[in-house]
Amino acid sequence: MKTRKEALSKIKETLQEITGHKIEGVHWRILQRAIEERKNQKGYDSIQSYAKRLNKDEIEWLLERLLVKETYFFRERPHFEILKYNVLPEIRRGDLPGAIWSAGCSTGEEAYSIAFVVAGAPGIRIYGTDISKRAIEMAKEGLYRRDSLRLLNPDEISRYFIKEGEYFRVKEHFRKMVHFEVFNLLEVPVGFERNGPFGAIFLRNVLMYFSPEARERVLDKVLSLLAPGGYLFLSVTETVGFLSNRLELVIDRDTVYFRKSLVEEKVERKEPLMVTSSELSLKADRRGRSLFSYEELVEKLTEGELEELEEELTDYIEKDPFQPELHFIQSLVLEELGDYRGALLSLRRCLYLDPNFALGYWQRGRIYEILGDKLRALSEYRKAEKLLDESDTVLYRLTWFNPYYIKAFLRRKLEELQEAQPVHHG
Ligand SMILES: C[S@@+](CC[C@H](N)C(=O)[O-])C[C@H]1O[C@@H](n2cnc3c(N)ncnc32)[C@H](O)[C@@H]1O
Repeated sequence: MKTRKEALSKIKETLQEITGHKIEGVHWRILQRAIEERKNQKGYDSIQSYAKRLNKDEIEWLLERLLVKETYFFRERPHFEILKYNVLPEIRRGDLPGAIWSAGCSTGEEAYSIAFVVAGAPGIRIYGTDISKRAIEMAKEGLYRRDSLRLLNPDEISRYFIKEGEYFRVKEHFRKMVHFEVFNLLEVPVGFERNGPFGAIFLRNVLMYFSPEARERVLDKVLSLLAPGGYLFLSVTETVGFLSNRLELVIDRDTVYFRKSLVEEKVERKEPLMVTSSELSLKADRRGRSLFSYEELVEKLTEGELEELEEELTDYIEKDPFQPELHFIQSLVLEELGDYRGALLSLRRCLYLDPNFALGYWQRGRIYEILGDKLRALSEYRKAEKLLDESDTVLYRLTWFNPYYIKAFLRRKLEELQEAQPVHHG
């Protein structure tokens, strides 16, 4: 480590290896600032000499700085509705085990939100775990600022908390329901595994920080601890790819979650287990070629072979539900068949899998227009236009869609609909 740059890289590599994170962009800048601060605090004359003495405590200090711990009660509330109306009854019937895990629970808000929902149901065990010691200490304390309660109404606040000055403490009854533990998701202790299999696992807003390889390892482990038929909640901005044989994607109550397949087949995978939406778009050209050709599908659509096409699509989607293009084409077919509700549902899946799928918004705008909802149509067209302007006209595998045509269409539509909007007077 001759240079400062080399020393910084070495520290970064060490932390990447430990956490499994991909430390880039803003996180890399945060880490560099933290290293600088620590070097000064400890009185080292250079980053190189600080790096040489990087021990366990130092690593932990830097890690606490690096980790993004943002969370709040009932974040992505629809997931808690699913917990109440789907998971809980299955646990009560004995169809799922009564163990629920908030993996990467940060300061505990997610784990306690689970406790609020399931309180009163017998035999339920809730676990909250995180790599951050400090976060778990705070979780155990159960003392929160008002900001963490931002989604709660006054009734819920008084039901779940006791006010302590400016803070709010989770009532003891709920605190007792959750077991907190510190560990790294890359090294789940055998002792913890014995608490499984879990009926539901919340792994939300965690995997997005990981490298693809670490993500795959964590997801593999988490899935092995999920009971057959068990629920996996990821953040709605994350998705898993190529898990069709192990997970089922469910869209329900305005949200998305996954259920572990009842029969687990082991198949050889050539693709990473999980991909983020942007990676999914980048992979566009490599995936799915052998199963079907998008061009052929779209050609059939233009030739009007609708029923046959719908059957074919259903079959492909069953084999690989994680391709936004397939849901998009399905929406076109359903539109042609006059099933607008079905078309909107397909688009929801498409845009869930890839929120940057510009054509999805374009199509949703068209459907809303057909349904007479001009305001929504306008908003969807705007999103499509913005995305198309931002991207270098990445139109996925659907080369049939000419970007210039779509852009011209959107321009025309936006003018037309904007003019038709009533003018609001202040
Ligand atoms: C943004 S918080 C998410 C909290 C909560 N799940 C939510 O969705 O609101 C991410 C948490 O993941 C934890 N985390 C990151 N890498 C981890 C690892 N390798 N093992 C365990 N926890 C990890 C962080 O410490 C942080 O508390």
